[in-house]
Amino acid sequence: MDSPIAVIGGTGRTGRLVARQLLARSESVRVIGRSTQRARRHTPPQAQFFAADVRSPDSVRTPLYGCSAVVYIVEPGTDDAGPDSPETTLHTGVRHVLDALRSTAAAPHVVLVSQRHVTRRDHPMNAYGRMLDWRLAGENAVRSSGLPYTVIRPGWLTDDLGHGHLHLEQGDLGDGRVARPLVADACVQALYSPAAQGVTFEMRSETGPGATPVPWQELFAGLRADAPTAARAALT
Ligand SMILES: NC(=O)c1ccc[n+]([C@@H]2O[C@H](COP(=O)([O-])OP(=O)(O)OC[C@H]3O[C@@H](n4cnc5c(N)ncnc54)[C@H](OP(=O)(O)O)[C@@H]3O)[C@@H](O)[C@H]2O)c1
Repeated sequence: MDSPIAVIGGTGRTGRLVARQLLARSESVRVIGRSTQRARRHTPPQAQFFAADVRSPDSVRTPLYGCSAVVYIVEPGTDDAGPDSPETTLHTGVRHVLDALRSTAAAPHVVLVSQRHVTRRDHPMNAYGRMLDWRLAGENAVRSSGLPYTVIRPGWLTDDLGHGHLHLEQGDLGDGRVARPLVADACVQALYSPAAQGVTFEMRSETGPGATPVPWQELFAGLRADAPTAARAALT
């Protein structure tokens, strides 16, 4: 791509895999996170680290300026309310990022990492600060932003390096785990595949041998685009 790609949460366990993959493709990478200490440990020297907090709109403006794409892969706090609640990182933070991106000339592709179960309000995960509700609100903000986007909903994350067959699903009906490296792959592949634009999908991987390489283009081509009505569905 002609301009940098920002990985917000790029010092995290999955985000750092995204950053490394992008660097391997000779992309210019901006890693964004709060902790400089964590960044020192996990940001490759070829990437540029920016200390910023998605909860603070001013802090994200500079690192996002001029980016051609953004991967948002931020882990939320779980307080019911206040600065470490899911609302702040999964909804308000997403909106801050979208606002910053709208003020740049180009229309960057936004890849949002969400999670399975966001449409199931009675799921136990929603007991943590209405985490699922706020994730869905963040997704909705991305879908209705007017920017090109991909929303990825992984199941429970594992650190398995080997992985079995990968399933991309839609409708948020299933369950299952997925390996972090596959989620990182999906974030990167989505940036280069037109078929991955304007879609929301869940991810699950089996144990045992899977297809190598993963047939990403085929998997993306099997997804249906989000309906405009779903794009406008406001949760809050
Ligand atoms: N764990 C699961 O089973 C599971 C299941 C489904 C989906 N997910 C989602 O998958 C994604 C990747 O998970 P992971 O376990 O790889 O994440 P992780 O290792 O916990 O990393 C999270 C990243 O978010 C950054 N971050 C947190 N709050 C931030 C803020 N306010 N502003 C900017 N950056 C912030 C962290 O850096 P700093 O702390 O330095 O800011 C870190 O780089 C997350 O979005 C997670 O919610 C996880």
